[in-house]
Amino acid sequence: MSSLLLTSIGSLVTNDPAHGGPLGELRDAALVIEGGRIAWVGGRREAPAADTSMDLGDRAVIPGFVDSHAHLVFAGDRAEEFAARMTGQPYSAGGIRTTVTATRGAADQQLTATVARLVTEMRRQGTTTVEIKSGYGLTVADEARSLAIAAGFTDETTYLGAHVVPAEYQDDPAGYVDLVTGPMLDQAAPHSKWVDVFVERGAFDADQARAILRAGQAKGLQARVHANQLGEGPGVQVACEVGAAAADHCTYLTDADVDALASTGVVAGLLPAIEFSTRSPYPDARRLLEAGVTVALATDCNPGSGYSSSMPFCIALAVREMRMSPAEALWSATAGGAASLRREDIGHLRVGARADLAVLDAPSYVHLAYRPGVPLVTQTLVGGRPG
Ligand code: NIG
Ligand code: FE
Repeated sequence: MSSLLLTSIGSLVTNDPAHGGPLGELRDAALVIEGGRIAWVGGRREAPAADTSMDLGDRAVIPGFVDSHAHLVFAGDRAEEFAARMTGQPYSAGGIRTTVTATRGAADQQLTATVARLVTEMRRQGTTTVEIKSGYGLTVADEARSLAIAAGFTDETTYLGAHVVPAEYQDDPAGYVDLVTGPMLDQAAPHSKWVDVFVERGAFDADQARAILRAGQAKGLQARVHANQLGEGPGVQVACEVGAAAADHCTYLTDADVDALASTGVVAGLLPAIEFSTRSPYPDARRLLEAGVTVALATDCNPGSGYSSSMPFCIALAVREMRMSPAEALWSATAGGAASLRREDIGHLRVGARADLAVLDAPSYVHLAYRPGVPLVTQTLVGGRPG
């Protein structure tokens, strides 16, 4: 097994509390990768010998971003809808059906090529793990193939048959819930780690969401929820009740919602690229952090509500618009994402972690927010290999 030494790291974010500070940051550091894992971390002068070494010229190294929420299996785009929004139209979840029609009409190869393109885009921007949802098929066959395609790119696949009620079930939502909890789940489950529901007026209510999440859990899937995006509602409470890993969006929360997240440990996923692209108020990150809620930042990359694949963009928004500190934002985009996906092997660079990391052409991670829009990620390693 050959080892690789990364040396002359100007600033190394480990997310290991043992190294102090919020991010366990080491200056003038080095690390050794062996067998795809972190084998050693410490000061440059103490570094052990390795088979090969790479001098990083005082650049910063951070754990790879863990993007815990993305919808990448789709066809077409909705640029016109975005343009209309920017001149005053409100966002409507009804647009999801436009993408459903395009996705149903697309060949497998076309969908696979889109996912490949977006995952490549994400890797270039430092993302090493991405969760990928279905949800634009909404038939048994189209959900199953969406998830089979997603599983070719990630272990973090999410069954979102309950994205919206498709047009053909408009007059029979109960019948659609039966499909989602029955034959569709049967075909989706072999390709899925997670089950998700869009809990919102115009999508699914609390009772429907409970039924869908419980059915998924009975099949061995773990729950995550689209909650409280467009207004206050029961999403967060349902997520807490069923023991979901995450409640994502969290844009409109009551005090009871914040208390429930804090007391259950359900991760709040904040998706600021969506508020940017729908011209909506940003979630109140400070309120969540001050209540002790674990916060993850993710892109929610999708063709409708926000089509950014960039975690650095989300960090810049979180810092500028949501008053997160650069350290809080980076933690949420790495360790927070790992918590949201219930993963202990990623989101940090302690010995034994997967060697998932990003090299920044900058002296420290602070530049991710300080230099918004600048492509600072020069290299991404996934399991120790160029991603
Ligand atoms: O997470 N909220 C529901 N689903 C997506 C939007 C999907 C779309 O508009 O196509 C989201 O924002
Ligand atoms: Fe989403």
